[in-house]
Amino acid sequence: MDAFAAIRSRRTVKDFTGAPLDRATLETLLDAARWAPTHRLSEPWRFAVLDQAAIARLSAWLPTQPQIRDTPDAAKGPAKLAKLLERLPTLGALINVTWVRSPNAEIDREDLAAAAAATQNLLLAATAAGIGSFWSTNPALGHPDTQRWCGSDPASEGFLGSLWLGIAKQQPPAPPRRPLSERVRWLS
Ligand SMILES: Cc1cc2nc3c(=O)[nH]c(=O)nc-3n(C[C@H](O)[C@H](O)[C@H](O)COP(=O)(O)O)c2cc1C
Repeated sequence: MDAFAAIRSRRTVKDFTGAPLDRATLETLLDAARWAPTHRLSEPWRFAVLDQAAIARLSAWLPTQPQIRDTPDAAKGPAKLAKLLERLPTLGALINVTWVRSPNAEIDREDLAAAAAATQNLLLAATAAGIGSFWSTNPALGHPDTQRWCGSDPASEGFLGSLWLGIAKQQPPAPPRRPLSERVRWLS
């Protein structure tokens, strides 16, 4: 699959078959991630990779945490967590992505951008490998205590997202994009 085909066919997938992803496959995706552009070669991205056993441990831990379970949005919080717990066992793997924060605002912005580029590399590599993906910022997964559970320190690393990976049950339709003319200014 060439780069354009991967870009066009990558879709946000939320329904997975439950098939596991092996470590060698995940290493291929992580290798694609680290070739993203990175100013000053800071390589600010950090990945915590959860296999299905780790996902099961995380799923058992999340509902025991009142500060995560009882979000301020009481009407939505528990239902959202219940939906998350229903879906997590269907994933082949979960990758938690953070970037190392810089006290310098300009460097921090560039490092966030680099980590986002690495994340997209990973998603495109997954697409090319026939693996479905979902860049999620689910509040339970992004909670500082969940970050700590994954081994990252929220005081020094920012949460970029949780990447759900697995074999898609079906390819979702592409949500439409606006015409390029609404987003591009040509200067000559
Ligand atoms: C930074 C980021 C965070 C996202 N977080 C969520 C999320 O928490 N829940 C969700 O349903 N989709 C999330 N998405 C996925 C978008 O909803 C999705 O990309 C969009 O609907 C376009 O669909 P596509 O990815 O299939 O092209 C996120 C995307 C990005 C880039």
